[in-house]
Amino acid sequence: MEHTVITNSVNDILTELKTNAAKPLGQAKAMPRKMYQSESILELEKEKIFKDGWICVGRTQDIPNVGDYLTWKILDEPVLVARRPDGEVAAYSNTCRHRMMLLLEGKGTCKRIVCPYHAWTYDLSGQLIGAPYMNKTDDFNKKDISLPEIRSEIWHGWIYLTLNPNARPVHEKLANLTPLIERYNCENYVGIVLKDTVWNCNWKLLAENFMEGYHLPVAHKATVGAFCPLDETEFSDVDEADENFTYQTYTKDKEAPVGTAHPSNTSLEGKWRITSVLPTIFPSHMFSLAPDHLWYLSIQPIGVDKVRIRHGAAIAPEVLENLSDPDASLGEIREFLAKVQEEDRFVVEGMQQGTAGDLSGSGQLSWLEREVNDFTKYIARKL
Ligand code: FES
Ligand SMILES: [Fe+2]
Repeated sequence: MEHTVITNSVNDILTELKTNAAKPLGQAKAMPRKMYQSESILELEKEKIFKDGWICVGRTQDIPNVGDYLTWKILDEPVLVARRPDGEVAAYSNTCRHRMMLLLEGKGTCKRIVCPYHAWTYDLSGQLIGAPYMNKTDDFNKKDISLPEIRSEIWHGWIYLTLNPNARPVHEKLANLTPLIERYNCENYVGIVLKDTVWNCNWKLLAENFMEGYHLPVAHKATVGAFCPLDETEFSDVDEADENFTYQTYTKDKEAPVGTAHPSNTSLEGKWRITSVLPTIFPSHMFSLAPDHLWYLSIQPIGVDKVRIRHGAAIAPEVLENLSDPDASLGEIREFLAKVQEEDRFVVEGMQQGTAGDLSGSGQLSWLEREVNDFTKYIARKL
């Protein structure tokens, strides 16, 4: 009986979501509040979205040399990504084949992977090469034991993993985004921030917050909003969504202090020297790519009101080379980005509390929130 009640309520939420998603932007609303509160919806999202899709875990620039590694989780699955001796990037389960201890933590460099519990040791291809005191164990053969490999793909310097062996390759899914992205050569941008945090909000509220510039002059009035009037000529409202991503472009004034091409950048031409592209790659990789820098978020749900966030930033090599005092400038950039993050945390955690109220209800979207509507349509398709 209880099962029927739950099913009905999920169906009610999905019906409301899909009715809304079918509407054009001019009539569309934000997602129904239960989309941010329902455990059953979260379970559906984990199965149909996060176990199915590609998750960005970082950039190849984060692990440039043999032995460099980084770790993360896809939902509850601990993963490690390492640069193998052949120079390729490969991903493995980050759990020991002995008694399942986590092998590596954070980011670093190693010659081999040594379990911190009993020192079972793996090479950078995941093969077990050492296991102390296993000589009296029957039928134990190191050669038979290796870390399960996880499917990975590199796209313009981004490292994507998937738990779905049948997922369409990233480069195929994002074929329509490639022409916009490739001109920036962002795979060469040098990483200056890589930070993991947990915020108290539903993952979709953070994703949606990234997608719209409507909040910039208000929520970010002390930082990015200060030089970001919502001029119709700057935010484009003609950018198109695709079933695998949505994006918007943003054109800066030539004199803007950041977001424009450095004079020694000779590959970007015309309007692209002052244009940023802000894609949301479904489900949960978002980046702001400017001619001189990028920053990004890759996010996943931990609970209905908890999101795991990997946040990174990088700058174009010609910008880095020309900084007169790199330490001071990079320190300033990091501090600025952290402030912007705090401003976003305030609104997304505030909205999470808002969606808990029975009297809460979602309202109509502005033309500046087109991508929020694209995201609603994506979620409605997937669930
Ligand atoms: S759990 Fe890794 S060596 Fe025992
Ligand atoms: Fe923001």
